[in-house]
Amino acid sequence: MKIIFATGNVGKLREAAEVLGPDYEVVSPASLGITEDIPETGSSLQENALQKARYLFERTGLPCFADDTGLEVDALGGAPGIYSARYAGPGHDSQANMDKLLEELSIVIPDSDPESRRARFRTVVALILADGEPHFFEGICEGSIATERRGSGGFGYDPVFLPDAYPGRTLAEVSEDEKNAVSHRGKAIRAMADWLKAFRLEP
Ligand code: IMP
Repeated sequence: MKIIFATGNVGKLREAAEVLGPDYEVVSPASLGITEDIPETGSSLQENALQKARYLFERTGLPCFADDTGLEVDALGGAPGIYSARYAGPGHDSQANMDKLLEELSIVIPDSDPESRRARFRTVVALILADGEPHFFEGICEGSIATERRGSGGFGYDPVFLPDAYPGRTLAEVSEDEKNAVSHRGKAIRAMADWLKAFRLEP
């Protein structure tokens, strides 16, 4: 079954295709000629994921899913959350976002105790099948924020995120397979794949 994943990111497409297995052909919007930016103006991860999935469903009628992720830092009241991609303002990159995060955290928490620096990545996936009804799946990766960047792998906030699953290493210091095994997005997409397997008679 053909299923659209609302992303242009090749790594995300590959990961989803691996998790969903050979019964599903995971395709990007661009491969169907949808190349414009998909609006993302909701006030929660769930709203954003649903908005993106709906946008594609309305244009194609095909099964589709979309993800939205936020980094939630307890000491910052859950920020940057849905603003993770543009925490340092529009047009700023991941380096600027990490600078701002470390700066804000150093004001609130002067010490390096991981317990006071607790954080998590949260991903919500919205899935829409032929009947147009949305289904939601969540994945969480617990950890803490490092006091400085370490590692060169991954993307986004990976160099400052210490996952509980790999003590002493940031997400930018683990392999792609190690990250996918514990990542918020991997868990959310696996939850969707398990649901599809359990509740649908055929793909
Ligand atoms: P998106 O919803 O996947 O586009 O993620 C929103 C923002 O969260 C990204 O721009 C990144 O800054 C951050 N982010 C999402 N996933 C990850 C991750 O796996 N590692 C580090 N940062 C991430």
